[in-house]
Amino acid sequence: MDKIKEILIGTNNVGKYKEICDLLPKTVKKYSLKEFKISSPEETGNSFKENSFIKASYFSKKTNLICLSDDSGLKIDLLGGLPGIYSSRWSGEKNNFNLAIKKVFKEMQKAKEDWRSDDNKASFVCCLTIFWPNGKKFSSEGIINGKISPKKIGTNGFGYDPIFIPKGYKNTFGEMSPKLKMSIDHRYKAFLKIKNFF
Ligand code: IMP
Repeated sequence: MDKIKEILIGTNNVGKYKEICDLLPKTVKKYSLKEFKISSPEETGNSFKENSFIKASYFSKKTNLICLSDDSGLKIDLLGGLPGIYSSRWSGEKNNFNLAIKKVFKEMQKAKEDWRSDDNKASFVCCLTIFWPNGKKFSSEGIINGKISPKKIGTNGFGYDPIFIPKGYKNTFGEMSPKLKMSIDHRYKAFLKIKNFF
């Protein structure tokens, strides 16, 4: 198998872009969507896998480069798996996470008034898809289990990081060093399954 030597990182999310670049070997040349001024396609799929495929194929076709795209999100058991594939638009305003986190707390309270005094379950899921200009594709999924923190803590990371506590840890992703988060999270676990392409 020919190793991938250059790749387009198919995301307009700065937090994801940074994590994906850091996971890939330094020797791989990385292109960003900024260099091509391409905005993201509509995510019309019903799963993380479908949406990551929509993005990777769209960006690859636009640039004629091999593209790696991520679709990911937070699933909360008490909310029946929401926000899930709607994570980035959960607040109604795309990528407004102050609002989205407020909505998470509000909806959890509605579902179970005393949720803070009990254990709850949540997970982050990530699907990575590589799409080649010749139509070849490969997808992998990574999951990290944990729970929702009773309050927002920490300023590291992005998105829902300040309210997610991974299983086996006491701190939120927002409190962890980026290095620690990146060595245990859903994106890392999905990456382990595609790393041999690089
Ligand atoms: P999308 O995959 O672009 O639809 O967006 C996924 C959304 O899920 C992001 O905008 C974040 O809100 C959330 N998300 C995915 N991965 C992470 C993570 O590692 N930390 C925090 N939030 C995340």
